[in-house]
Formats: sequence, C-alpha cells, structure tokens
Amino acid sequence: MKKIKISPSILSADFSQLGNEIKRLEEGGADMIHVDVMDGHFVPNLTIGPPVIKALKKHCSIKFDVHLMIAPVHRYIQAYSDAGADIITIHPEATDNLENSILKIKSLNKKVGVSLNPNSKIDLIRDYLEKIDLVLIMSVNPGFGGQKFMPEVLNKVKELKEIQSQNNMNFDIEIDGGINFDNCQSAIEAGANILVSGTTVFKSNNGDIKKNINLLKSK
Ligand code: DX5
Ligand code: ZN
Repeated sequence: MKKIKISPSILSADFSQLGNEIKRLEEGGADMIHVDVMDGHFVPNLTIGPPVIKALKKHCSIKFDVHLMIAPVHRYIQAYSDAGADIITIHPEATDNLENSILKIKSLNKKVGVSLNPNSKIDLIRDYLEKIDLVLIMSVNPGFGGQKFMPEVLNKVKELKEIQSQNNMNFDIEIDGGINFDNCQSAIEAGANILVSGTTVFKSNNGDIKKNINLLKSK
C-alpha cells in the first residue's frame, strides 16, 4: 500500500506572496508542491511559466509536481525541466506524439505523469502505463480551482488501480480537483495515493495549512 501524499495546488495561494506561500506549504507538511501551468489555450485560464517556477524553486526543498495544461506541450518540456520541475505531467490531447513526449521527459531524468480529463478514457493512455511514473486523474474540468468534485471519476480511479495491480505496475495515482474532507477518503479507497488540493488546503480552518494537510491524510 503506497503512502498517501498531499500535493497542494498553488493555484489557490496568494499569488502576491508565492515564495512565502510555498514555504508555508513545506512547513505545513506538504509532500510536494502542485504547480498548475495554464496557457489560456488548452484551458481557459493563464497562470505561470518557467521563470516563476525557477524563482520559487529557490525557496523550497520539496518536489515540484508540475501539471502542464498547455498545448502544444512537447516543445516546452525542456524549459519546465530546466526551471526545476521534478514531475512533469502532460495531457495526451496536448501532444502529437505521446510516446515521444514521455521519452523526452524521461531523457531529462524527470518523473513523467499523464493526465486524464473527466471525459477522457483510460484507453487513451493504456499502452503507456508501464512507461510512466504517475497518472493524474482530473476530478474537475481543468482551468480553475474551487470547482465541484466530479464523483463519477472514482470509477476511473478504481479501473486504473485494477490494471495496476493485475499487471504489477507501480505508477502513482494522483487525483486533482475539488478534493475536500468529505471526498478524500473515497478517493483513497478507490486507489488514489496522491491527493491534489488547493482550496481545501489554503482556505479551510482559517487557512491552517498544517491542520488541513493532516486532515486530508487522516480521514
Ligand atoms: C485545475 C487544477 C487543479 C486545481 C485544484 O485545473 O489542475 O490542480 O487547482 O484546486 P482545487 O483543490 O481548489 O479544486
Ligand atoms: Zn492541477
């Protein structure tokens, strides 16, 4: 049984204080930092890019779990690797050749993740599962924090967990979007071992990050 990890999304952080915010996450017990990169094209929102990631990396010793919601993504993989991403997660719809993009990330000695939107099927990535380190299951349509959890994606998590166990594979299953104290346990029971959370970590219990991270882990 893999250890449950929490990867708080900085999309819900105070963007005017990002350096301090990631320090708060690290001190609050975050296992990694979920960095949502959006290009206003693949998703209808625009956030941060390599220069900001590079600057933030200096203030943090835990891993950067970088979620690239950008298209086309292949040509930018090097830049996010150089900026300090430790895990680089891409969407299959954002590259012309998923195999090449996976190989590119691996060639840079980074962990490779592939993300499935709520309406995307596992078949889209089934042939790549033995080559990747992480599958990111979206439980909201990507683009914004604070959206409502879509419980139907738990069936996809369960199916993925079955494929993983039947084929003795070892990729992490990360779930992302609308994770809170009411649904985190069912996400874990379905098979997720990494929970992404922005709103719940930063906004619950008067912003007590340590308490919120512990609550998500212990539910
Ligand atoms: C949405 C992002 C998620 C989101 C999570 O496109 O990929 O990581 O920021 O935020 P909450 O936990 O507020 O749904
Ligand atoms: Zn994300």
